Amino acid sequence: MNRSVPKLGSIASPSELSEKFLKNYSYFALPIVAQSNQEKPEVVLDLPLRSIKNFEKIFEISFPEEIRKHGASITAKAGEVIDIPIATKDELTHILLVGIGSRSESDIRKAGVALGRKTRATQARALSFIARNEKEAQIHLIAAGLATYSWSQKTSANPETPAFTIVGDFADVAERSSILLEATWKARDLIHTPSNIKSPEWMATQAKKFAKNSSLTVKVRSGKELKDFGGLRAVGNSSKKNPPRFVEVSYRPRSSKPIPHVVLVGKGITFDTGGVSLKRPYDTMAPMKSDMTGAAAVLMVAVAAAELGLKVRVTSLMMLAENALSGTSQRPSDVITHYGGTTVEVINTDSEGRLVLADGLAYADKHLDPDYLIDIATLTGAATLGLSRYFGAMYTRDKKLADSLSRLSDFTGDRIWHMPLIDDYQIALASDVADYNHTADKYKFQGGSVTAALFLEKFVGKRKWAHLDIAGPARSEVDAGENVKGGTGYGVRLLTEWIASL
Ligand code: BES
Ligand code: MN
Ligand code: ZN
Repeated sequence: MNRSVPKLGSIASPSELSEKFLKNYSYFALPIVAQSNQEKPEVVLDLPLRSIKNFEKIFEISFPEEIRKHGASITAKAGEVIDIPIATKDELTHILLVGIGSRSESDIRKAGVALGRKTRATQARALSFIARNEKEAQIHLIAAGLATYSWSQKTSANPETPAFTIVGDFADVAERSSILLEATWKARDLIHTPSNIKSPEWMATQAKKFAKNSSLTVKVRSGKELKDFGGLRAVGNSSKKNPPRFVEVSYRPRSSKPIPHVVLVGKGITFDTGGVSLKRPYDTMAPMKSDMTGAAAVLMVAVAAAELGLKVRVTSLMMLAENALSGTSQRPSDVITHYGGTTVEVINTDSEGRLVLADGLAYADKHLDPDYLIDIATLTGAATLGLSRYFGAMYTRDKKLADSLSRLSDFTGDRIWHMPLIDDYQIALASDVADYNHTADKYKFQGGSVTAALFLEKFVGKRKWAHLDIAGPARSEVDAGENVKGGTGYGVRLLTEWIASL
């Protein structure tokens, strides 16, 4: 049972808090901070005195008393919660005092996560007093929503979902946050869907479904239409049952002025066994149902861009294939011809991602005339060695592009780090028989995420290009921040906001 997306809303701050105003809600989130201008920091509410007094009167409580009960264990650090349950006539109401630390973007996100975790799997109607401006409102609402995500195919799964309202003049922000939350949520749904369901064909059908509700057009190529896509075919024909698809999702807003064109290319490996170079140890294989995260992200970014009505043309290319082990799997030593004619010697069939991406990048360069070409992929385990799980690795030679993406890290929560394209390692790509070898295994430089990026760069022509290696942040193995165990939907918020900023 898939839980539905929490509703997000806003309500103007009343001149005076009344019982009538508050009675529609079962949870209240009020911000607390440590007042540091005293010798001993004191934890206090970060609200106008009048609101505090009204709350105390209506619910017959004393906040200093409640805070004191918890003693020194409460420091108001971001995400810390004091839960004050109050028995009202027909239900239990909760006042949550939520630490907001120093009110940084990540602190406001943590406070949102705390609210989401407290209300997850309930029908709570939560009212938050935590945001002071539009940015805070967006961060807070989306974080609260995402923290309630769950995926379950249990027949007894609980479908209850809370709703979040934020106090303030934030109607537009709530609408925008809803679109971003839903897009990230749906990307998570695609990622969690098991690979016995989500074949490349199934993914293409999902793209068509989403397109129907938005002003998107979708073109799906399969079979003979993939003749020139040598990389996609080499990988995807390993599965007779689930053959490859190339899906082109286009959002073309009407505009009297010229507008930028962004082309996004997503790795969409619906399951990665490694192929003939079978993944070992075997327990590293099960998480590879998430190996289509990039494709899910670029699809949902296009959907979000359309729903937000952004004045940017967006084309998302989903490179969909299963990397299976079978009699039609490619072999180490095969030479394939990519879209556009570049030849590549296959070394390790578990490096399938770059093969499908290369076709997409070359296609975009040849036919779509992008102002920006961005690919996103769960590409290399190596990316997680340097940065671990919370940051994506970004490769680009365009300093301005790097800065504009990096700047959105904290606001969107999709954190990213600019990595170097190291030209000394180019020689690793040499092949005795083809234009390149695809794993960059010559000279044993290691640096697998860097050399993978150097490989992809061969296919982008002279475009402004960035590559996001998201093998780390695409999945979470624990509940952490706004992520719950499993697919995170990484990249949807980052890329949508970046497109909105163009
Ligand atoms: N999908 C994997 C990369 C990956 C690893 C994603 C861990 C998420 C978590 C990719 O197709 C792969 O297998 N890469 C190999 C490349 C190697 C064979 C050169 C890797 O990283 O081990
Ligand atoms: Mn692989
Ligand atoms: Zn892979």
